[in-house]
Amino acid sequence: KTEAFVTKLMSQMTVEEKVAQTIQADGASITPEELKHYRLGSVLVGGNSAPDGNDRASAQRWIEWINAFRAAALDNRGGHQEIPIIFGVDAVHGHNNVVGATIFPHNIGLGAARDPDLIRRIGAATAQEMAATGADWTFGPTVAVPRDVRWGRTYEGYAEDPEVVKTYAGPMTLGLQGALVAGKPLAAGHIAGSAKHFLGDGGTEDGKDQGDAKLPEAELIRLHNAGYPPAIDAGILSVMVSFSSWNGVKHTGNKSLLTDVLKGRMGFEGFVVGDWNAHGQVEGCTNTSCAQAYNAGMDMMMAPDSWKGLYDNTLAQVKAGQIPMARIDDAVRRILRVKVKAGLFENKRPLEGKLELLGAPEHRAIAREAVRKSLVLLKNEGVLPLKSSARILVAGDGADDIGKAAGGWTLTWQGTGNKNSDFPNGQSIFGGVAEAVKAGGGSAELSVTGDYKQKPDVAIVVFGENPYAEFQGDIATAEYQPGDKTDLALLKKLKAQGIPVVSVFLSGRPLWTNPEINASDAFVAAWLPGSEGGGVADVLIGDAAGKPRFDFKGKLSFSWPKRADQEPLNVGDKGYDPLFAYGYGLSYAKPGKVAVLSEESGVTSTAATNVDRYFIAGRAPNPWTLTTSGAVATKTIDAGAQENARQAVWTGEGQGLLAVSGRPVDLSRQTTGDMAVMLRYRVDASPEKPVSMAIGCGESCGATVDVTSTFSGAK
Ligand code: IFM
Repeated sequence: KTEAFVTKLMSQMTVEEKVAQTIQADGASITPEELKHYRLGSVLVGGNSAPDGNDRASAQRWIEWINAFRAAALDNRGGHQEIPIIFGVDAVHGHNNVVGATIFPHNIGLGAARDPDLIRRIGAATAQEMAATGADWTFGPTVAVPRDVRWGRTYEGYAEDPEVVKTYAGPMTLGLQGALVAGKPLAAGHIAGSAKHFLGDGGTEDGKDQGDAKLPEAELIRLHNAGYPPAIDAGILSVMVSFSSWNGVKHTGNKSLLTDVLKGRMGFEGFVVGDWNAHGQVEGCTNTSCAQAYNAGMDMMMAPDSWKGLYDNTLAQVKAGQIPMARIDDAVRRILRVKVKAGLFENKRPLEGKLELLGAPEHRAIAREAVRKSLVLLKNEGVLPLKSSARILVAGDGADDIGKAAGGWTLTWQGTGNKNSDFPNGQSIFGGVAEAVKAGGGSAELSVTGDYKQKPDVAIVVFGENPYAEFQGDIATAEYQPGDKTDLALLKKLKAQGIPVVSVFLSGRPLWTNPEINASDAFVAAWLPGSEGGGVADVLIGDAAGKPRFDFKGKLSFSWPKRADQEPLNVGDKGYDPLFAYGYGLSYAKPGKVAVLSEESGVTSTAATNVDRYFIAGRAPNPWTLTTSGAVATKTIDAGAQENARQAVWTGEGQGLLAVSGRPVDLSRQTTGDMAVMLRYRVDASPEKPVSMAIGCGESCGATVDVTSTFSGAK
């Protein structure tokens, strides 16, 4: 049905109309009248543009503005079927373009949460808020696998490990778009997505934005393609191509990757859109002329301010046969197919104008849950959880600054210049602390610089990176605040007064923060939590007696450097030597006694008592039966049939992810892996008690090793 409709439509289109479908202009650089005249296929609001150039335009103004373009496009064909535009925005952590929207944690925090269903719910809430303002299409999900945290877009990636990205790409696509049903448009409240940036954007040398990924093909595919097949399986309607290069060739001009691999081998049927004037970076091209990109397989060119020249030149190139008509037909068919599937021809906009959906309580509750689950506790020397009956000082420049906590891609491209009043539905971290102590009879005092009226029982100091986006966030080393240690001075000042200090670190990546960690009694990586700072207080502050209300669930999805010059630093790499390994994260659960068993220590072992976590190593018979004494239940482990497989299971207080063989493994699913790596990872966390663990555990088999209680962090 869709294809027949598209075929009929195309039979009525002129070559001019077809070329116009392949070009996207920025809303700041085209008027509705020009759109009507040229009949372009799409309009975007990029990072640096907004209705009337006003980043804080009201949601109502957004609707009027989008609708002015929409109406112009629908009034241009004198009797023929009208072709709607598809209107795109960067809604990368919520509908972050519009005042009042729910701002979810950036992807790096979501990666730490390891919760695919949460990701789906975030996608669905984002789509609803977008649909309320009439936007059709988001340039997300980002399925980058950042391998060097010096990259200014690290925070847009879920994890350094492709496995996490793989598990998230499908749920986020489903959340945004809903499940595709053949012959039917997207369900109400869903919008089109765009998996980005194809391919290897997170693998460039030195983490340089728009740089070059120097990798063999197998590595490019293994590491950086992880998110695309699941996104395609879930029905992603578009893919955005990366600015970057692979072995010196710009992706935007790479026919073998775009046409042979993505559209051919991977079977992608949606359309391929370029990044902002990225076609101009292809060898031999300019922003206004790039037959090479079309011929490589690009379907829609993001030509924000260059659309007019690109339209004229592309039309001439098609007429001269430099771009085959069949190629343009393929591009237009793909674009129209997506417009049909996105429901744009139906002009059904049931949620438009439902502005109560922006920052709706149920969406904010999801965001707060996401904040709680994203926090990674890196150090806790007995100070957390705090009592809600305590007198708490909240200090640091991030304490009461939602804009800082939201980071880049929030109202403005770089995320700078935002004030709390720009988030009328949001709550700062200080706001969350104040709410928590109110319930427990304590008090919260805000002082950015740490001067206080009455000596507090404890200080929460919120500090970290200032917002940035894209190449503007690239850095030379992983050192936090090189040449400027103002936050460290604040921590030391409070400590010198005998005040225990809990550091809440806001950042788009792990950074070398050893001095700050050493100056803190507890250190929490909070990433870029967004508009729901209350989620931080939920976990830090327990009840009046200090019983936790929520535990820390977050596990590092990026390795934390031990030295500032240590990038790239990725789990599984040779010589891997992080300060905190991938997967690390403390919790309030009591320190575990760990027993290490191997096949030599017996299939049935009662050797260890009072143990709540077992690591089991060895070439396992299938299945193993482990009989434990004490509180831990009998556990049967299906070792699988793989020769020499090393099996591991983590029993105890629930599920968890640990690094095994350099890969994250969901131990609740008893995946096979290399035991030695996991053991080394746990043992490294306990430098005071070095234990040499070979495969099969050697001398430590059957012994108990107290791991978490002796861990002292960044000393
Ligand atoms: O979608 C973005 C992309 O991620 C980076 N360059 C600009 C695009 C549109 O704003």
